Amino acid sequence: MTTSPNKKIRALTIHDFQSRKGEGSKLSMVTCYDYCSASILNESQVDCILVGDSGSMVMQGCATTLGATVPMLVQFTQAVANGAPHKFIVSDLPFCSYRKSRARTMDAVEALMRAGAQAVKLEGAAGNLKTVRHVVDSGVPVMGHLGLTPQAIHSLGGFKVQGRAPEAASRLLREAQDLAEAGCFALVLECVPADLAQVITERLSIPTIGIGAGPHTSGQVLVWHDLLGLSQSFRPKFLKTFLNGFDLVREALNAFDNEVKKVTYPDLKEHCY
Ligand code: KIV
Repeated sequence: MTTSPNKKIRALTIHDFQSRKGEGSKLSMVTCYDYCSASILNESQVDCILVGDSGSMVMQGCATTLGATVPMLVQFTQAVANGAPHKFIVSDLPFCSYRKSRARTMDAVEALMRAGAQAVKLEGAAGNLKTVRHVVDSGVPVMGHLGLTPQAIHSLGGFKVQGRAPEAASRLLREAQDLAEAGCFALVLECVPADLAQVITERLSIPTIGIGAGPHTSGQVLVWHDLLGLSQSFRPKFLKTFLNGFDLVREALNAFDNEVKKVTYPDLKEHCY
């Protein structure tokens, strides 16, 4: 357990995830990819950070998360770990990095953990249960991710709500139980109906963290850029923006531009040597 200089913030451990579920107190998780944003998160009350493969989209402009690679996630993880030493950091295993061989999976896990992650996340259950067991047995906590799994976007046929049909809902419940049994310490549920997320959360011993999965999960996760309203184009139904970041930043940029052009900045007394 580590304590922040201001003594109010301490990093969670995987045991805290479990006890939070037991107590019924919610977990908050926000994605992050860079040092500056991580240092703000470090001084916030947000419980933990996800270095998501969504970074390929929001940081690099890719259309999907398939553009994320292990070196990219390692670089993001190092920057975030430098900025947020007092937060529990989960890093995504990117597309295909855990599907080729045990050795290559462990190379990716090792690289992310050495970069500063305290856990890794992978998507889907089919074909991953032995991998989860092996990674957990190697001393690395694993977070699962079910529902809309963006790395499988082309199999899913687009960014759509998952588990609406009864068979799909039963399959998701079974997969969630399988991942918990394989040793996952927590499970992300993305874009599933709220009542299904509630059933899964009630049936599992481990906490669930929802995104587009309603209020009954054990916690919520949002992408940094979405939460802060930094994107004008991505506004799905589940998203609440907690800041009008796009407009605020643009206004600040325009204010700078105006002052440069009017020569009110830099001021001879205040900003000059
Ligand atoms: O990469 C990511 O941002 C994620 C969240 C959407 C859970 O996996």
